[in-house]
Amino acid sequence: MSQEKIEKNVALLIVFTLLAVIWGGLVEIVPLFFQTSTTTAVEGLKPYDAVQLAGREVYIREGCYNCHSQMIRPFRAETERYGHYSVAGEFVYDHPFQWGSKRTGPDLQRVGNRYSDEWHRAHLRNPRSVVQDSNMPSYFWLEKTLASDTVGHDIVEKISALRAIGVPYEESDITGARDALKDKTEADVLIAYLQGLGQSSPTLSNFQ
Ligand code: HEC
Repeated sequence: MSQEKIEKNVALLIVFTLLAVIWGGLVEIVPLFFQTSTTTAVEGLKPYDAVQLAGREVYIREGCYNCHSQMIRPFRAETERYGHYSVAGEFVYDHPFQWGSKRTGPDLQRVGNRYSDEWHRAHLRNPRSVVQDSNMPSYFWLEKTLASDTVGHDIVEKISALRAIGVPYEESDITGARDALKDKTEADVLIAYLQGLGQSSPTLSNFQ
């Protein structure tokens, strides 16, 4: 069948265009199902504990991802500043992941252990108290609300749901979840989350 014949017949052109698009889609999508490096956790990766998971909810609710990415690109300028570049296997327990695409502030993927809890507390209360020219908003109210009243009220259901989709939680993670959040403020849980970032994949976070 000549090219001219296909191009002059609308029905044939539609059929062949569709076939080309379907084939192109399959070639891109199907191999991903078999590429285990994108779906297997990196060595040593641990799921967020109940406190970190509640902190992650504060992070999402407050829209921290609008200014912070959690995705280090494989360029020298990035790896020298933030540490090892991100790999897919670090995010397999993140539902949804917090990669983000806007960096008004620095990338946070490996910010865990870079500062003390007290630094974070002061920084969240008023960023200008520790970084003079910071234009990050202050989040002073986080210290005034108990996490169990807000982001943590359905922590048991949340962990159960994550377990149902394959995050390896134990029964004790679920039964102990409410106690773990007891008396913790939203600032406490958010800081626990930040301090855990990059620390749950030791093989990568230690690499500079
Ligand atoms: C309007 C943009 C903006 C928003 C929203 C924002 N930040 Fe920031 N953040 C910044 C900027 C700019 C800096 C760099 C100056 C500084 O350290 O304060 C920063 C710095 C940080 C740092 C220190 C990072 C480092 O490596 O030094 C942390 C931690 C942080 N932000 C956490 C948060 C959290 C948690 C939230 C949400 C509760 C948040 N930020 C919301 C702009 C923002």
